[in-house]
Amino acid sequence: MKVDVLLGLQWGDEGKGKIVDVLTPKYDIIARFQGGPNAGHTLEFEGKKHVLHTIPSGIFRDGVMNLVGNGVVIDPVIFQAELDKLKPFNIDIPSRLIISKKAHLILPTHRILDAASEAAKGKNKIGSTLKGIGPTYMDKTGRNGLRVGDIYSPKFEERYNALVDKHKSMLERFPDFKYNLDELEGPWLDAIEKLKELDAVDSEQYINNAIKAGKKVLAEGAQGTMLDIDFGTYPFVTSSNTVTAGTCTGLGVAPTKIGDVIGIFKAYCTRVGSGPFPTELEDEVGEKIRKEGSEFGATTGRPRRCGWIDLPQLKYAIMINGVSELSMMKADVLDNFETIMACTHYMIDGVRCDYFPYDVTDVEIVPVYEEIKAWNCDTTKLSSMQDAPAELKAYVEYLEQKLEVPITVVSVGPDRTQTLNNKKVLA
Ligand code: GDP
Ligand code: IMO
Ligand code: MG
Repeated sequence: MKVDVLLGLQWGDEGKGKIVDVLTPKYDIIARFQGGPNAGHTLEFEGKKHVLHTIPSGIFRDGVMNLVGNGVVIDPVIFQAELDKLKPFNIDIPSRLIISKKAHLILPTHRILDAASEAAKGKNKIGSTLKGIGPTYMDKTGRNGLRVGDIYSPKFEERYNALVDKHKSMLERFPDFKYNLDELEGPWLDAIEKLKELDAVDSEQYINNAIKAGKKVLAEGAQGTMLDIDFGTYPFVTSSNTVTAGTCTGLGVAPTKIGDVIGIFKAYCTRVGSGPFPTELEDEVGEKIRKEGSEFGATTGRPRRCGWIDLPQLKYAIMINGVSELSMMKADVLDNFETIMACTHYMIDGVRCDYFPYDVTDVEIVPVYEEIKAWNCDTTKLSSMQDAPAELKAYVEYLEQKLEVPITVVSVGPDRTQTLNNKKVLA
């Protein structure tokens, strides 16, 4: 069996959690391969809303194993809080959740360093979620990090103290930044003890044995392609590879074992945090999208910046990820528009540009739009694409033609059930 991948094609928050939950019954294992508690994945069913940060979005379904892979960074305190929130649902966690021994740990001092670094950057800040993501991946690549497997070692405390000492000396570079490590350290060490109750495994062995045994695996991406450390709008990105290739390094799965790649995008576009966003609408239209789409961060509560769909950006993401099918999310958010816009190309310094270029930060980039007649009616109660308004069908076909990849799912609301199948059956 091959590993299917589901990931975001824009700047995150495309609705990955919802679609992973919808697809989970088709799989035996759901595996996160990168990122950490900077992610906020929302699931809605039976009138309840759940937000997951580190735990894969398959956790609510029976008979499915959820794996936190080696590419993920774990904050034990946030992880424990997520587990505590699941308690009322009587999920048998040990039979449904395992973590990689090679996943790196976010220390309290990583979080402090994240905050200090952002404060020092002033108006140039990344707009990080302040979860310690950047400093933890820096220690990983700098070969200083602590991993889940280390917590069982008698030398753990010694290694923890050595790393904290290093961080304290780094924090001396920020004399104006005040922090209180003591109040964070106690709960963190308690959460490490709790983490020991979970099954830590050699996850690359686990997953490859599962593939060999014919089990179906879905890799769940976090963030989005435009936040990728290599291919995103650097430096306004996260610190991991959010693209398909990240599945290989974040789970120990060979490239030859990758199957379908499902790319998720919103029918428009959003971004949270700083950085370039060519189709951003800083006017009442952007405000209307934010309001209709409840575009506020699932992790930080920050208002998301909103704009029209950007086709050169999506084509770029499809190319980098090798996307084989698409899910279009939040179509219902455009229900109250008479017309919508799609950016077909850019003008940069008066020259036409059809692709997503290297520099989108220090140039004047003018998106050129095509106006599209919208459906202007309620789609949230639809149960089939066949019954969809003609304009919505036309928008889907327009995007399929421009993006050259089939859109197999159209989402018309946050609930599990508000998911329309658009797979065309060959006659
Ligand atoms: P993720 O990070 O990609 O999992 O996405 P988030 O959970 O951060 O943000 C997506 C938000 O949109 C959540 O509040 C979802 O409940 C919601 N959502 C997902 N799909 C739809 C949809 O089709 N329509 C509407 N209106 N909301 C949706
Ligand atoms: P999900 O998985 C949207 C953004 C932050 C910031 C930048 C770097 O829910 O789609 P970091 O804390 O990673 O150092 O922040 O990346 N960011 C996200 N934006 N969705 C996310 O995750 C994000 N995770 C990080 O806002 O701009
Ligand atoms: Mg999110």
